[in-house]
Amino acid sequence: MPPPPLLCLALSLLALLPPSSAQSTLALNEPPDNTLLLGAWLDTSTDSPQSFNARLGLPAPWFQFAQNIPVDPLDQSTGQGGIVNASMVWETGTDAGVYVTVYPAQGFAAIRDQDWAALGVQLQSYVLAGRGVFLRFAPEMNGNWDVWGIQPTAFKAAWARMHALVKLSCPSCALVWSPNASPGYPYSITPDMVASAEDRQALDTDGDGAYTAADDAFAPYYPGDALVDWAGVSYYYKGVYPNSYNVANGPGTVEAALTGTAPAGLEQAQAVQYTPFYETYCERMPCMFSESGAAWHWNQTGVPANFDSPTHTAVEQAWWRDGLTNRTLLSAYPRLKLLMLFEWQKVEADAGISTLRDFRITNATDVLQAFRADMQAVQGTYRWANELPGGAAGVPAQVPMPQPSPARATPYRMPAGESTSLFWN
Ligand SMILES: *[C@@H]1O[C@H](CO)[C@@H](O)[C@H](O)[C@H]1NC(C)=O
Ligand SMILES: *[C@@H]1O[C@H](CO)[C@@H](O)[C@H](O)[C@H]1NC(C)=O
Ligand SMILES: *[C@@H]1O[C@H](CO)[C@@H](O)[C@H](O)[C@H]1NC(C)=O
Ligand SMILES: *[C@@H]1O[C@H](CO)[C@@H](O)[C@H](O)[C@H]1NC(C)=O
Repeated sequence: MPPPPLLCLALSLLALLPPSSAQSTLALNEPPDNTLLLGAWLDTSTDSPQSFNARLGLPAPWFQFAQNIPVDPLDQSTGQGGIVNASMVWETGTDAGVYVTVYPAQGFAAIRDQDWAALGVQLQSYVLAGRGVFLRFAPEMNGNWDVWGIQPTAFKAAWARMHALVKLSCPSCALVWSPNASPGYPYSITPDMVASAEDRQALDTDGDGAYTAADDAFAPYYPGDALVDWAGVSYYYKGVYPNSYNVANGPGTVEAALTGTAPAGLEQAQAVQYTPFYETYCERMPCMFSESGAAWHWNQTGVPANFDSPTHTAVEQAWWRDGLTNRTLLSAYPRLKLLMLFEWQKVEADAGISTLRDFRITNATDVLQAFRADMQAVQGTYRWANELPGGAAGVPAQVPMPQPSPARATPYRMPAGESTSLFWN
């Protein structure tokens, strides 16, 4: 029987389409049409995605949260622990995605297959509810400030296991490999600090017996193109070492994270070349700043005599004008596709001097107003979230939030070749 005429027409129209649309060449969660994405990582003890969107006056397409693997038991009274609260994203009434950072807070050896399986099921539940998902595991693994740092062999083994098990239940979860940006590498790390002999040698990529700016800041930790969907870096500007007082950054500071070329300036008399990030990874996959910001020191100290201290707005504006709202930069690095704001303040110390550092650009009113004004010029370069019909009321208020029971008697076993069920074991 010949196909009915309408179907014939449809089939011949289909044949006119180009064989592969541009869409099919995009990586997971990659925005089309040369646009890029803005995300925010908020301190949800005082803030929420809904409030962030209201302050910015624009619906951000990504919100970042963090949890540990194995998952810490949820403390019902403090709300600490457990898995991330993705309901906060639903509450925005937009189709924003859920960006989950996962810390191996007890070290790589503590992660069991059932933890990866549970994570895959958790993340897939967001996908089934219509959300994009990023998974960033063990970030800044090339630094030594977290328990999972400077262990390239164990990191890569854990990454491969994650890829195998999480992708089984969440194939569209985009895995973000995200070291610390190279400027400043090796961050005062010396070979004697590295526990395993194999790792100690692997990190000395030029084989000269020492760790220097000439060693590759990234390669020892790279799991391979087949196991990574996006590459990202953490990148912060905190002033002049030991980072205790307010100084606006100079031009090209943000670009240094991409090129690895730290410009001459207050920190160093001459430019220093570190491992280039963009040319090494971003031609092959989309890239992001996974977390970034400039520090405003609320209680600065050690200000040099006769130094003209900048205002809060001046410090933050120098930073976003060099990056987020810098058309020259954004068009020079078209594979940079997501800029994630670190909207937190925290006490941090360098060389024993602590200050309260505020990285937020949407909290203080004057800073926020200046950011909104500067953002207007580049707003169309960014791709914003879509409002859902009915807004927040149109989506279920409560996302399924399965919590691992404190005592799991029987270890979870992944059925060979099968995806995990949507329920906790
Ligand atoms: C998660 O966030 C939603 C929306 O803000 C809130 O109603 C809920 O209480 C939160 N759940 C937990 C366990 O904190
Ligand atoms: C924008 O970025 C380019 C490349 O890093 C830099 O040369 C320029 O100074 C930046 N613009 C501003 C206003 O910072
Ligand atoms: C700044 O304040 C924080 C607490 O908010 C404190 O830990 C730190 O020591 C203070 N630093 C200075 C230089 O006063
Ligand atoms: C700024 O942050 C503080 C907590 O650090 C919070 O109490 C306050 O509501 C925030 N203000 C705005 C406008 O977001």
